[in-house]
Amino acid sequence: MKQGKFITLEGCEGAGKSLQLKLLKEYFDKNSIDYIYTREPGGAEISEKIRAVILDANNKDMHPVTEALLFAAARVQHIESVILPALKQGKIVLCDRYIDSSFAYQAYAGGLGYDYIAKINDRAITTCMPDITLFLNISPADAFKRKGGADANDRIEQNGLVFHEKVYAGYLEMLKKSPERIVAIDCMGERKQTHLNILSALKERGIIG
Ligand code: TYD
Repeated sequence: MKQGKFITLEGCEGAGKSLQLKLLKEYFDKNSIDYIYTREPGGAEISEKIRAVILDANNKDMHPVTEALLFAAARVQHIESVILPALKQGKIVLCDRYIDSSFAYQAYAGGLGYDYIAKINDRAITTCMPDITLFLNISPADAFKRKGGADANDRIEQNGLVFHEKVYAGYLEMLKKSPERIVAIDCMGERKQTHLNILSALKERGIIG
């Protein structure tokens, strides 16, 4: 039985995830909240090795099913060796991306479908779903404008705006499917305001006091 709280943060590239994670970590530190920060793909030693394979710009020929299975494999290792142990110790787990990235990117944008991604992620679904998923709700066009273009070394970011529009649509589908878990965070205003929106969501859902 898990006792801690599992928070995931999701959004399209350039949505401002990194800054919001930094602000949230600072808030947890300041308020002496017992947490660990982790990320996907990766977050555990073996999962970080899988991450390197997935994101290697030379792996252009990677089949979409191979990619989806690698994300799922990295996730199992992450769940078993990092997330569940921390939750059992009563900690808050703050994770940069998780299963909803697989739904948005692989199931919807990549066309593999919800059912297939759910099937290969059955362990996450049955043993380790987030208590709350914060979705930074900003369209890819606006996000790219803020970020100033894609990172040339990152294979997934090179897919371009059309792909990212599909990712965004995928997130909106997930939001419709799981409104009890996923909270859309308005991030069109100042980044400080987005941070406050995140804190409100966490407080409203009883994740933090
Ligand atoms: P990363 O550089 O960590 O991206 P970001 O800073 O945007 O979080 O690279 C992770 C990439 O992997 C990102 O493009 C999203 C993608 N991804 C998936 O396609 N499926 C998944 O299940 C996960 C966890 C990530």
